[in-house]
Amino acid sequence: MIQVQPGRHAGLIKSDEEIEQMRVAGHELARVRERLSEMVHPGVSTWDLDRVARESIERIGAVPAFLGYHGYPATICSSINEEVVHGIPSKNRILADGDLISIDVGLVLGGFFSDTALTLPVGRVAPEVEHLIAVTRRALDVGIEAARAGRRLGDVSSAIQEYVEGENLSVVREYTGHGIGRQMHEEPKIPNFGEAGKGLRLRPGMVLALEPMVNLGVWNTEVMPDGWTVVTADRKPSAHFEHTISLTRDGVEILTE
Ligand code: MF3
Ligand code: CO
Ligand code: CO
Repeated sequence: MIQVQPGRHAGLIKSDEEIEQMRVAGHELARVRERLSEMVHPGVSTWDLDRVARESIERIGAVPAFLGYHGYPATICSSINEEVVHGIPSKNRILADGDLISIDVGLVLGGFFSDTALTLPVGRVAPEVEHLIAVTRRALDVGIEAARAGRRLGDVSSAIQEYVEGENLSVVREYTGHGIGRQMHEEPKIPNFGEAGKGLRLRPGMVLALEPMVNLGVWNTEVMPDGWTVVTADRKPSAHFEHTISLTRDGVEILTE
């Protein structure tokens, strides 16, 4: 008798119908991300960004994914300079020339989550900050290129780590990418460091949020007294890019594009 193995990858593998719904959610989220990107200029507050994010998400009949998540109080995470992730929008945080800002935004549409982030310079930034942003953006592409059915999770993790460290920057260890679907954070965890050839075998139908977080100085982080804002231990700048992707038989599809 042939023994089927139900549930072995339950939830990890999405059906074509589920992926179609996640494609719709991802495309809508990408539009929200683009709208927020256009707002990034000196003088704009992170509160303004958050308000527009919430309005845009609600207008399309979707729900902000972060609002209320473990008590998180906003629609986006806005992380400036030494802030790595989970910065809370505030009327008092006004973008200034020379800052860099990471915007992370997520929504739920038709029962499925989508999650994306990017980092932008505000006005003119130092050359080392431009390099940090460019390498982090490229690190996401490197991860996406390594994410192929048949390969392993460690191939993705190590590709990102080797590229970033080859550029003399460091990858954050305490926070990872993740599977995504009917929950924002599903198995597997996807570290941005690791060993090639190790870990879970990747399969068609997996939907993953890849999200390299890259620091100019040391990789170590701390959490601020607000309980959310993650900062670099040496207070040097950090960048973050994230896409929700699905693995197909012969490649990947970036859902948040
Ligand atoms: N979007 C984050 C991630 O990429 C999670 C944010 S949770 C929040 O996984 F509560 F901080 F918003
Ligand atoms: Co995110
Ligand atoms: Co994520």
